[in-house]
Amino acid sequence: MRVSDIPQVMHIDRLSFEVPWSEKSYRYEILEAGHSSMLVLEWCREQAVPQWKRWFGLAPVAQRWIVGYGGMWHIQGDAHISTIAVHPKMRGRGWGEVLLAAMAYRAVLLHCVELGLEVRVSNSKAQQLYQKYEFETVGIKPRYYRNNNEDAYDMQLRLDEDARLKRLEGRYTAVMNRHGVADQYTRAVRPSLRKD
Ligand SMILES: CC(C)(COP(=O)(O)OP(=O)(O)OC[C@H]1O[C@@H](n2cnc3c(N)ncnc32)[C@H](O)[C@@H]1OP(=O)(O)O)[C@@H](O)C(=O)NCCC(=O)NCCS
Repeated sequence: MRVSDIPQVMHIDRLSFEVPWSEKSYRYEILEAGHSSMLVLEWCREQAVPQWKRWFGLAPVAQRWIVGYGGMWHIQGDAHISTIAVHPKMRGRGWGEVLLAAMAYRAVLLHCVELGLEVRVSNSKAQQLYQKYEFETVGIKPRYYRNNNEDAYDMQLRLDEDARLKRLEGRYTAVMNRHGVADQYTRAVRPSLRKD
């Protein structure tokens, strides 16, 4: 995620969450928080340019728009998903899984032993996504969400077991190939702290 992505990300955020993040929070996560790995999933299409326009030197234009985004913190072997959302019009097509797989696999490459997150008890869609990736509910955080005092499930994925890591790597590879994703996030040295 780059600073120039923030307006599109905030648009999806407002459509997805009752309490969206502020622009200041995104800027902090991208530019200052060294423990933060923010990502966007971008759809790219090259617009064809007719031959006669090419004669005048016009190159094909790449159209890009953001389908979803996510964020992960990683501190001393522990990783935590801070946010994940897909544009409402693009849900149910596998993009949420792409985002989750990328963050989980990045946590593995960063040698984290655990990946955690909180999810509203009413958010069964997201819970199913996390369960598909073998997250387990390890507790309940009462009245975690301040806007309506809703409880959160505390979910965790252990990343220190070989068989589970192999399954995760297999899922990551399969989902990236299935959707033709060019992953510039998972192995990036520091995807955050980037200016444009
Ligand atoms: C949660 C969210 C990111 C999922 O993204 P998505 O692109 O719709 O999900 P995918 O299409 O990749 O689906 C992946 C898995 O999620 C679960 N899932 C997705 N949509 C579902 C639905 N309508 N009902 C039940 N499970 C669903 C399934 O397990 C699915 O796997 P499957 O296709 O093999 O059944 C998306 O719904 C979203 O942005 N929600 C609003 C923000 C949010 O709640 N974020 C989570 C905060 S903790």
